[in-house]
Amino acid sequence: MLNKARDKGFPLLMIFELTYRCNFKCKHCYLPAAYKKKRGELKTKEIFTILDQLKDTGCLYLRFTGGEPFMRKDIMDILRYAKKRGFELIIYTNGSLIDERMVGELTALRPDIEITIPAMSKSVFERISGVVGSRNRVFNSTRLLHKKGASLRLKTCALKANEEEIKDIRDFAASLKIPYEFDAMVLPQLNGSRKPYRYRTRKIEDMIQMEKVDLNRDTTYSWVPDTGDLFNCGAGQMKAAITPRGWLKTCVNIDKPIFNILESSFRNAWEDLKRFVGSIKPGDDHRCAKCELKLYCAWCPGMSWLENRNSTGCNLQCRHFAESRKKNQKQIYRGDDK
Ligand SMILES: C[S@@+](CC[C@H](N)C(=O)[O-])C[C@H]1O[C@@H](n2cnc3c(N)ncnc32)[C@H](O)[C@@H]1O
Repeated sequence: MLNKARDKGFPLLMIFELTYRCNFKCKHCYLPAAYKKKRGELKTKEIFTILDQLKDTGCLYLRFTGGEPFMRKDIMDILRYAKKRGFELIIYTNGSLIDERMVGELTALRPDIEITIPAMSKSVFERISGVVGSRNRVFNSTRLLHKKGASLRLKTCALKANEEEIKDIRDFAASLKIPYEFDAMVLPQLNGSRKPYRYRTRKIEDMIQMEKVDLNRDTTYSWVPDTGDLFNCGAGQMKAAITPRGWLKTCVNIDKPIFNILESSFRNAWEDLKRFVGSIKPGDDHRCAKCELKLYCAWCPGMSWLENRNSTGCNLQCRHFAESRKKNQKQIYRGDDK
């Protein structure tokens, strides 16, 4: 399916940032404060129009994120509409605004719900979220959703503040028998500010030890430049992201250039985006093929863009992780399929 979408150039997966507003105040957030205003957000009907157009271009998977998607009063209408149009739904949420009434309907609509759990302890959780009472709300809704049989996954952005709690969160997920992932990569803000780096964990090696690696999975890390294809992740080829104001962008991380969907159409915006992404070729700054770290590096053009405003070169954070993996003999890329 992935390869078919890539070959035919249709958007199998669309990441829809429904709002940049959030009820949490995480200091490490990649969204700059100035983005988090309601002004200009798509109206419900405009979202429906975009969903119709997405369906017509072959999109199957819709991942709603934010901000916090449940900040939108019409979130259940949007989910219902999307389900009716036949999308497979995924929601990224902090879980804190999901009440008992919603749980029943969410369980019936059967989206995959991915809840961010920043910590197990109340003190660390609330230090990260910046909101008193947030830990209890999130754990209550998580347990409720679990009890009702919702399709749940948990995840954590590993930080200095929660580095001692990752194992406990993993054990909690295991006790509920639900999948869990953590990521110690901290993104700069979308405007390029490296302020979130202040909150990075110092225990990269511990995180690398805990990282799950499956060398046989068919998703590859995207270092390989031989094909001239930088975006092995599929961005701009079979997936992309939509902003809360209705602009199409390469991925969540890369928001320049952006293409207006409502003023044109989703199909036109998608064709423009594909042309743009297809025009980005590895230049002299792209040295992955010769890099001694290539079997250890989860190089991401989006991370390079955020760090350097250039999506083809190296970036400090991927390099740092790759160096640690090499030191620990933790290969993440098979390296034999190109
Ligand atoms: C921005 S939130 C949006 C969806 C939803 N509100 C949630 O909490 O999952 C998506 C995920 O990004 C993570 N995140 C936020 N800022 C980050 C950063 N600078 N680097 C890496 N991950 C980050 C959050 O921890 C969360 O898991």
